[in-house]
Formats: sequence, structure tokens, C-alpha cells
Amino acid sequence: MKTKYDFSEGERGRFYNSKAVFNILNSHEKDRGQKMRLNDKIAIVTGGGRGIGRAVALRFAEEGAKVVVDDVNDALGTATVSAITDTGGEALFINADVSNVADAQRLIAETVDTYGTVDIFVNNAICSTADVLNNNWDANLAVALQGTSHCSNAVIPIMQEAGGGGIINIASVNGLIGLQAIHAYSAAKGGVIALTRSMAVAHGKDNIRINCICPGTIQTEVWEPMLERNPQILDEITPWYPLGRIGQPIDIANAALFLASDEASFATGAVFVIDGGLTAGNHQFPI
Ligand SMILES: NC(=O)c1ccc[n+]([C@@H]2O[C@H](COP(=O)([O-])OP(=O)(O)OC[C@H]3O[C@@H](n4cnc5c(N)ncnc54)[C@H](O)[C@@H]3O)[C@@H](O)[C@H]2O)c1
Repeated sequence: MKTKYDFSEGERGRFYNSKAVFNILNSHEKDRGQKMRLNDKIAIVTGGGRGIGRAVALRFAEEGAKVVVDDVNDALGTATVSAITDTGGEALFINADVSNVADAQRLIAETVDTYGTVDIFVNNAICSTADVLNNNWDANLAVALQGTSHCSNAVIPIMQEAGGGGIINIASVNGLIGLQAIHAYSAAKGGVIALTRSMAVAHGKDNIRINCICPGTIQTEVWEPMLERNPQILDEITPWYPLGRIGQPIDIANAALFLASDEASFATGAVFVIDGGLTAGNHQFPI
């Protein structure tokens, strides 16, 4: 069904392009190698084939990072890599299932073989929307929670050897407040928040900063099945948001960029809520 929320390839590009980030890239082109915020950093983004992960990968590449795009979907992953390399950036696709320990270790090993180290790791992958909506506990815990643990455990020795690094976990407002009856997802995301804090405490001494982002509703392809069932769903939830809009992938990419950069050098164990005010409360008291 065609709705005003169109997630076609062209539209995906528009969400990203509309924020004028490619203009920023062009304006920085002459300064490439001098002023960019992640200059020559090596970053891995899991689930980087679409949605938030794709936006993070593109944003990091614009700021000078060499980006390893991980995904279980070859077509999506290679499309993100092409979007980066077509605009002069450097990127590599690796197909690794984060829920599998051996795959997580291979993701890190292949990155180190290619680029020598890992500076930034973004745990972003999530199981399918069907598994989220059907409360598939195994899938939600395996990808969102254990996947974050597997990848973090694999990358930490590399960061320790390098003298530091940054891990950014994409959690959710569902890990903070009750929203829908997607209990397995909410519990997995609550676990990601707890894991972030626990690992941040353990690895502060290694100069490894571990933070998480809790997005509110972000307009990505995950909403397609729900829009099929109710084409008004995003309009119906928009009033929950004090800023009067739902989020776009670039909103989360910019937050991840901050956490990955030296500007966040004193932030670790932080729960960075990027939700248009959703969890601040949405009721106007009638006085
Ligand atoms: N979109 C939202 O409204 C929203 C809100 C809050 C939090 N989040 C979180 O943000 C993150 C990204 O969300 P999104 O909407 O971009 O999701 P998405 O479904 O659009 O993208 C997820 C990507 O992960 C890949 N993937 C799936 N299983 C994998 C695995 N085992 N290993 C590696 N890659 C795998 C998929 O192929 C896909 O490309 C998720 O962690 C999600 O929970 C999203």
C-alpha cells in the first residue's frame, strides 16, 4: 500500500539528503583530512544496511571515518558501502550475524586485517519487525542484547591494545518506559541500557567509552508492516511528541557522531535519550 511514508530507495535517500548533509560533505571536501570530526577513525556499524545504521555509516564517513558496514543482508549492506564510496569515502561490507559469537569475532578480525584497528563500534542491528511484533524472545535477546555483548566483547581487546575507543549501543525508549505490548523487545533494550552501564564501569580504566542512545520513533523501514495495517499510525503517534514530529535517521546519526567524537570525551555509561521529548511527558496540564 502506498502511503505518504514512502520507503522506496529514492525516498530513503531523501530522508538523508534532505538534511543537507551532502552539502556539508561538499563544503568540507577541500578540508578533507584536516577538520573532519572522525578523520581516519575506523568505525564498524552493525545493521548498517538500512535505516538508522545506514544513516550512521554515511554520517561517520562524511566526517572522515573508514566505515565497515555489517549486515546479514548483502544487497542492503553493499548499497550503503556504494553510497559512501560514490561520494569519495572509504567503506567495506562484511556479512556477519551479530547473534553468532564466531561471526562477531570474524567481523572484528576482518576489520583489523583490513584497517589495522577499530576505534568506534556501533551496536545497531535488530531482528526483523515480525520478530519484534510477535514477541520472539529468542530473536530479540539474541540480536539486540547478546549481539551487543558478543560484538563488544570481541572489539574490547582491540581497543585496549589501541589505548581506547568508543562503543555506542542503540537501545530504545522502550527500554525506559512501557509503550506497546512488545515485551521481548522492550526487555532486550532495557538489557542493552544495563549492559552499557555495566561495561562502561568495567572499561573506563581502558579509556573505552561505552554509551547508549535511546531513540523515540524514527521513520525507517521497520514501520512499513505497521503502516500496511494502519496507514495513519505515524500520524496518530506524532501528538505524543512535544516537538510535534517523529524522528529521522539523521537525528540518531548526529547523536552517534557526537558520542563517537572527541567532543564526548567525558561521556561514558550515559543514556542519551533522543526522542523529541516523548519520555519527558506529553500531557499539557489544563490550567
Ligand atoms: N526505527 C525506530 O523507530 C527505532 C526506535 C527506537 C530504537 N530503534 C533501534 O534502532 C536500531 C535500528 O533500527 P532501524 O529502524 O534502522 O532497523 P531496521 O530493521 O531498519 O535495520 C536493521 C538492520 O539490521 C540488519 N540485521 C538484522 N539482523 C541482523 C543480525 N543478526 N546481524 C547483523 N545485522 C542484522 C537488517 O538486515 C537491517 O539492515 C535498532 O536497534 C532499533 O531497535 C529504532
